[in-house]
Amino acid sequence: MANKYFVIDFDSTFTKVEAFDVLADISLHGHPELAARKKQIEEITRRGMDGSISFRESLEQRLALLPINRIHLGKLVSQLKEKVSESFKRNRDFFTTHADSIYIISNGFREFIEPVVTAYGVKPANILANEFVFDDHDNVKGFDTTNPLSSNNGKSERLKSLNLPGDIYVIGDGYTDYEIKRAGLANKFFAFTENVEREQVLSKADHVAPSLDEFLYLNKLNTAISYPKNRISVLLLENVHPVAISWMKSEGFSVESYPAGLNEAELCEKVKNVSVLGIRSKTQVTSKVLDSANRLMAIGAFCIGTNQIDLAEATRKGIAVFNAPFSNTRSVVELAIGEIIVLLRNIPDKSQHMHQGKWDKSARGSYEIRGKRLGIVGYGNIGAQLSVIAENLGMKVYYYDREEKLALGNATKCRSLDELLAAADVVTLHVDGRDSNTNLIGHAQFNKMKPGVIFLNLSRGHVVDIQALRENILSGKVAGCAVDVFPDEPIDNHEEFVSPLRGLPNTLLTPHIGGSTAEAQENIGMFVPGKLMDYINTGSTSNSVNFPNLTLPTLENAHRLIHIHNNVPGILARINQVLANHGINIVGQYLKTNEWIGYVITDINKEYDKEVIKELRAIEHTIKFRVLY
Ligand code: NAI
Repeated sequence: MANKYFVIDFDSTFTKVEAFDVLADISLHGHPELAARKKQIEEITRRGMDGSISFRESLEQRLALLPINRIHLGKLVSQLKEKVSESFKRNRDFFTTHADSIYIISNGFREFIEPVVTAYGVKPANILANEFVFDDHDNVKGFDTTNPLSSNNGKSERLKSLNLPGDIYVIGDGYTDYEIKRAGLANKFFAFTENVEREQVLSKADHVAPSLDEFLYLNKLNTAISYPKNRISVLLLENVHPVAISWMKSEGFSVESYPAGLNEAELCEKVKNVSVLGIRSKTQVTSKVLDSANRLMAIGAFCIGTNQIDLAEATRKGIAVFNAPFSNTRSVVELAIGEIIVLLRNIPDKSQHMHQGKWDKSARGSYEIRGKRLGIVGYGNIGAQLSVIAENLGMKVYYYDREEKLALGNATKCRSLDELLAAADVVTLHVDGRDSNTNLIGHAQFNKMKPGVIFLNLSRGHVVDIQALRENILSGKVAGCAVDVFPDEPIDNHEEFVSPLRGLPNTLLTPHIGGSTAEAQENIGMFVPGKLMDYINTGSTSNSVNFPNLTLPTLENAHRLIHIHNNVPGILARINQVLANHGINIVGQYLKTNEWIGYVITDINKEYDKEVIKELRAIEHTIKFRVLY
């Protein structure tokens, strides 16, 4: 097989930035003409590119505008080291494994390129770049004009002089990189678009490489990841937080995002080649949508609920679903605290009276929360956090949960709901929405509460018998109440809110916004992509809604085989039989099942026969199979 050489550009390819721009900022830092000179440099660069001046002239003119000293170069190197392209960072292995065949070519300068690329294992002798000439005070006074890289067509000339005996693949973002191929010196030119895209360059490329992963994949050199992330297409709907979009893009995925949701027909069309789908609460992921989703690996619900997804069908198809169950816990807790304070002071009525011009200054029926008994029904994420904060504000906390839950702080555990209802001055519901919780609080439960109780529901609408609540407010048994969730909620902001609770005294009604804060949205935007990428990169399913939860160690020096199958007996044995038949050493193995599927992760030694993969895929009841390198 012919030798292969990889010739890689530096500016905007190896690093995300153009070193010259950064150098201008550093060397002109605090200079009164900084902006003006940068503009001039831009203009000179443009004239160099369009051919109205030669490359040599452009270099001379640009350098004349910059008072560069060695000290500046030191600073430049530190900044460039921070700005290495993401896909280069994650493919360090490539540089060390192929050090003899990798060349860095640049019209930039060795003085700042060498420290950056040698840190990745590139050999100093394989760096083809210009060199500065310094005066006695370490100021740059010019450059080595005998170096072909300081002239037009320099890259081709320089490469030609090396006479490399084999195939040459060039990867870069600029026209000068393409010129190497045009000069007949390279077999293929890959346009690198991770940092910049230039139309003129794209049209000349043999391949477009949105990341180094793609370049390695096309050349069968990939080791860091099994499949280039740019080939994994991610569709994000319903205006998910920008932090999610930019994070997934920076990880190298091909991300498409839409501000609105899509209806079933639109989604069926759009989802065809999508590997990861991100939605919020409005998009219905029906079995029909899932049928159209040929490549779907995972769904991220950028919200709490997952009712909008046909989970059973997703599971049957081996599609992992993730959500963000705890991202808005704090927001709900803060609202509950605020409401308790406001209701104990009768503020809803007082505020309304003021708007009507009524001045009712009196302490009657107004209380501090300090020393009051707070009864928390449902001591999960929200209930437990509320417990801690309420106690810090001086409340005495009682709680009841149907499951065994450890008391936080000095909270008192109640053995029954009735016990809690009898004790509490304030009753607040934080149970989940399981069917059996329908009308958990009705007439019988209100009867058990203290007269003048304050009542809050920020959990789920069907948990409270609304008619019973209305009657107890009107009778004065409930002295104040806050409700954020309702059995019937309008579908959108245009529909009228209809409820027997409208117009009642000391009653705070809010449109299901307990968890709706900027912070919660940002938390969700960070949490869900983290789970999705963990799943794609490592196979980890921790917190998945429908997959058996497995948290996996990071993969070191092994291949990871990820096998999803219908939960029938004997599959693990079949997998291990195949591996044994091929004499493969298992480094680690993890299995978890749920009602529907089995999830087996097997880490094996680096060397294996490709036939194994075929046989594993062919095992009966296999739903999905993939390999991580
Ligand atoms: P979680 O699942 O962590 O906690 C729920 C707790 O309630 C569990 O400990 C469970 O054992 C307990 N529970 C269930 N039924 C019970 C019963 N009948 N009696 C006593 N305990 C019972 O849930 P998390 O995250 O704390 O959320 C609580 C509720 O808040 C959920 O219904 C959720 O949908 C709702 N929520 C509302 C938001 C809003 O915008 N208003 C935002 C976020 C959550």
